[in-house]
Amino acid sequence: MRKSIILITGVNGEIGHGLVRSLHEEGVTNLVGIDLVTVDNFVQERTQDCLVGSILDQNLLERINAQYEIEAIYHMAALLSTRAEFSPVIAHEVNVDGTLKLLDLAMEQAQSRGKPVKFFFPSSIAVYGLPSLKEKSLAGALGEDDYRYPQTMYGCNKLYCESLGNYYGHYFKRLSANDSKGLVDFRAIRFPGIISAHTLPAGGTSDYAPEMIHAAAKGEHYDCFVRKDATIPFMTMSDAILAIELLMAAPQSKLTKTVYNVKAFNPSAGEFFSKVKEYYPQADIDFVTNDNRQSIIDSWPEDVNDEKARHDWNWAAIHDLNKAFSDYLIPEIRSRYEHK
Ligand code: SER
Repeated sequence: MRKSIILITGVNGEIGHGLVRSLHEEGVTNLVGIDLVTVDNFVQERTQDCLVGSILDQNLLERINAQYEIEAIYHMAALLSTRAEFSPVIAHEVNVDGTLKLLDLAMEQAQSRGKPVKFFFPSSIAVYGLPSLKEKSLAGALGEDDYRYPQTMYGCNKLYCESLGNYYGHYFKRLSANDSKGLVDFRAIRFPGIISAHTLPAGGTSDYAPEMIHAAAKGEHYDCFVRKDATIPFMTMSDAILAIELLMAAPQSKLTKTVYNVKAFNPSAGEFFSKVKEYYPQADIDFVTNDNRQSIIDSWPEDVNDEKARHDWNWAAIHDLNKAFSDYLIPEIRSRYEHK
């Protein structure tokens, strides 16, 4: 008998950490991770096994396929938006080819088990592309079908993978005799910028918000790379994990979409800075705009409409901007840096 597991790719990354923390707290003991690097102790202690390697390594995926029965895949491995602009072809390989390989693994597993494999895919507000600040401001909160004209390689990758997931979920090999419909139970969320109290992101464009608060907590200088008026939606890592768990637990019959927007709060960088100052009056932060990164933020929406997620799977963020600081970021960050 093959062991039944839940597979998490990019397990040593930011959302990987958040997910492992939460699933472990809920008593899940059959997590298996993959990451390019050896995972840290936190992840190691909370997983059954972690494999070091690339999601593009077919041999590694075949080993996993042979060794385990996979109940669900949380496919978190990706190159984020800023990093992807420096190596667009590598980003495409990891973000698109990697996702295709994982979807194919899910399909093979589902066919051999004879029951669906759940597949979670983190998409992003980067799938949107607003042509100008004027249009961004006029457009306001975007619905899932609005302005899908990504301007970054990462956004293109995420948008295409949403379609790939939908294909594997609903239309896979429809000309063949075997019916594969529903075997890959693909579910995706378009995340806003995520702010974790425990980890820092690497290579994203929404990183200025988490970087600002972690620098302030550590007493370090920080140059914020966007203007004070730069505005996109954000949420706490704990709300991001809540969203994943709510969506993954929802009965398939309740889901009217494969990809959902979620939102929590959308401060400008200046408003976020003021909030940081409230808790860290000595925070040493300058605004030194990087025009190229700024232009990516300008192309992302200032807000999203998440009524579908609210309706279909009772989504509601716990943290607004004030609560994000008072109930999550400040207490967790203080205990983190004070213990060091
Ligand atoms: N936070 C991500 C990034 O900045 C967007 O999904 O790349």
